[in-house]
Amino acid sequence: MIVVNPAPLDTSYVPEKLFFRDDKIATIQSTVIDPSASGITNNIIIHGDSGTGKTSTVKFLMRDNKSIIYENALSFRNVKNLLEHVISRLGRPVSYRGLSYSDIFSTLNSLISFRGNIILVIDEATGILKGDSTGLYNLFRASEIYGTELSTILISMESPFMYMERKYGTIVELKFNKYSSDEINRIITDRASMALDPGTCPDSILQYISEISGQFGSARFAIELLQKAAYMAEYRLSKTIENDDVRSAVSLINPYITESKLSLLDKSELVVLLAICSLLSDSLSVDVHSIEKEVELEGEEYGVELKRTEIYKIIRKLEGMDIISSSLRSSGNRSSVSKLISINDVPVSILSIKIRDLIPRL
Ligand SMILES: Nc1ncnc2c1ncn2[C@@H]1O[C@H](COP(=O)(O)OP(=O)(O)OP(=O)(O)O)[C@@H](O)[C@H]1O
Ligand SMILES: [Mg+2]
Repeated sequence: MIVVNPAPLDTSYVPEKLFFRDDKIATIQSTVIDPSASGITNNIIIHGDSGTGKTSTVKFLMRDNKSIIYENALSFRNVKNLLEHVISRLGRPVSYRGLSYSDIFSTLNSLISFRGNIILVIDEATGILKGDSTGLYNLFRASEIYGTELSTILISMESPFMYMERKYGTIVELKFNKYSSDEINRIITDRASMALDPGTCPDSILQYISEISGQFGSARFAIELLQKAAYMAEYRLSKTIENDDVRSAVSLINPYITESKLSLLDKSELVVLLAICSLLSDSLSVDVHSIEKEVELEGEEYGVELKRTEIYKIIRKLEGMDIISSSLRSSGNRSSVSKLISINDVPVSILSIKIRDLIPRL
């Protein structure tokens, strides 16, 4: 047996100790939680890459604070739906759909006068931030418009900056930075000590996992790697976790980065994919125009020159192969739309390494 206590290796596990997030906890406490207790409502948006501890930090705070209500926006179409759900959770079943905001907030007012202030956490709120400005307006200004003592903590991976509108009022922004390899090491050392039989996971393995995960700063990825590697070793009936267990775990978590998929691409296609990866290293999606410019840079390094139409064709091919995905965004108030490219199921840092490794061999 290597795994003696599986819970701490689950990514939804909220640890007793949250490392390196004391400052974030203090900020949330002082900007939202403390004021809320004395009837002052504030709103905050937490953002940062996957695995930077956004959800766990809020869940950690929920342990000592019963006024915090947690919802995941992915379960709802819009803010109104979500608030209807909150109302029924608090014991007022919503008998019919299509309540107005003023109905919703007056119900919330009576619930709040009964049970006290509410701090509403909306996790995975990127969709709402992009698409529900009416909902956000009502939510963020609920105190002025409806006299509702409701503070909101929004959590999103993307920076909310480009979606924020002035009419929302003052909103505190709190960015969660990526973890360094050393920080990840501290976090997974703690998890390993809780979950694994002593002596089954050498420090060198924790170091290896931290280095891989440090490339994109995600504690989530590191914990998943540790979990999968541990089970892999158990499956092999080994007494300890070895490097190859970690390597297998990486390919398990990222089945799409198999060499075989990349090996179907020629040099130009790899250069375009590499350009996309570079652009996505600090954002969730990129537009085609930026890709064109980046291809010019990356292409220079590898002696590849591509016309705009060729780049478009390659992007379509990569989409067809499910290596990249795209969405449309309407730009400004004109009716034109632009295409946004993203890669969602592979860490782009790992993909970049693979591509840089492959190109010279072609
Ligand atoms: N500072 C930390 N100390 C200990 N564990 C942490 C820390 N940060 C994150 N973790 C652990 O890493 C995993 C992922 O963290 P969490 O789910 O909070 O990230 P997230 O920022 O919400 O990611 P996502 O955007 O993908 O939802 C969890 O198991 C969490 O307990
Ligand atoms: Mg989260």
